[in-house]
Order: sequence, then C-alpha cells, then structure tokens
Amino acid sequence: MSANSNENATGSTGKRILILNGSPRMNGNTAGLIASFTEGAIQAGHVVDRFDLQKMNIRACLGCYKGGKDPDSPCVQKDDMDKIYPVYERADIVVLASPMYYWSVTGQLKCAFDRLFAVTEKDAEFRSPSKKCIMLMAAEGDTRDNFEPVVHYYHALLKHLGWTNLGEVYAGGVVNVGDIKGHLALKEARDLGVSIL
Ligand SMILES: Cc1cc2nc3c(=O)[nH]c(=O)nc-3n(C[C@H](O)[C@H](O)[C@H](O)COP(=O)(O)O)c2cc1C
Repeated sequence: MSANSNENATGSTGKRILILNGSPRMNGNTAGLIASFTEGAIQAGHVVDRFDLQKMNIRACLGCYKGGKDPDSPCVQKDDMDKIYPVYERADIVVLASPMYYWSVTGQLKCAFDRLFAVTEKDAEFRSPSKKCIMLMAAEGDTRDNFEPVVHYYHALLKHLGWTNLGEVYAGGVVNVGDIKGHLALKEARDLGVSIL
C-alpha cells in the first residue's frame, strides 16, 4: 500500500511509514485503527507499508547475539523478517499496531520487534537506527488504569531506543470485530496520520 513520495500538501517531503500489524484479526478493531490512520497518512502525502504479521512466518528471537553480519539479511534465522528488514531500514516512522493482550502487545508484534535487534547488531556500538514511532492499540478495558502498563512500556521502549514519539491512539471498550465502528479513536487515528509532517 503506498502513495506518492513527493511533496505533500504541507510542502514537506512524504515520509516512509512502516506499520507492523500485530492483530491476528484482519478485520478487527486494530485493523480499523490502521485503516483510518493510513487514510490520513496517504492523504497527507506519505508512503505506507503494512505487514500483517499474523500471515507471516516470523520466529521468536534466539538471543544468540550473532546477527548483523549480512546487511541485507541481518538475522541468523531466515524467515519472513527478511521482507521487513529493508522496509524498516528505509522507514522514517514505525507504527506499532496491536490489540492489547494481557496488558501488552500481541506475541506476533513482540516477536517481530525483538527480531529488529538484528539491524541494531549491524552497528558496532549497538546503536538502534533513528526512527519516529506511533502506537495504535485496541482493548476491551476502557480506563486509564487499563492502558497504563502499555503506555509505560511504549515510553520506556522509545526512551531506550532514542526514538521520537509522534502519537498514541488507544481505543478502549472494543471487544468483538466491528466494535470499533463509530469509535472516537478512528478520528484520532486519521488525524494523527494527517498530522505527520
Ligand atoms: C488473549 C487475549 C488477551 C486479551 N487481553 C486483554 C487485556 O489485557 N486488556 C484488555 O483490555 N483487553 C484484552 N483483550 C481484548 C482485546 O484487546 C480486544 O478484544 C481487542 O479489541 C481485539 O483487537 P482486534 O479486533 O484487533 O483483534 C484480550 C483479548 C485476547 C484474545
């Protein structure tokens, strides 16, 4: 999925946005947030690449610390992460999109994100590539207290990676497929996409 990479309506250059979709439900509530965000981002002239992790063969990190040697395929495990690595390296913005599963992101997203460490291993000093980041999340609970562990995790992650937060959209009170319809968070997600400079 992509739009042009020329100047957008605000005159700035279109950004490359990588969406890592951790939801196993392709038409679920996270998918709704992603669709609204993508619509806004494309309208603003950005290029969006989305990976639906549930459909991909991505194994968990082995913790071998032997990655980074082959620049094009930095992990020792050879699977569908090789489709994500080049897009990740070029991306200006990484979007973490996930339902809340036990006060965290899904295993699908966690596995993929851990495996990005192989790119960090390309750097002798283990410096992470510099990125901007966005969080989109759907959850059953709809209180500040329910989202607090994820908010804490997300901010700790960005602090340690040295990434910049461009925004977070948390859609609470959604359980079944279709619950996101008419949710205020859809507008928030769309506005966030449009707001990217
Ligand atoms: C295994 C599992 C764990 C869940 N854990 C939580 C949770 O910790 N907190 C919460 O508010 N909702 C939790 N939920 C509810 C989902 O976050 C909610 O149904 C969400 O809308 C699903 O998004 P999706 O439609 O993209 O799959 C859980 C659902 C499942 C299946």
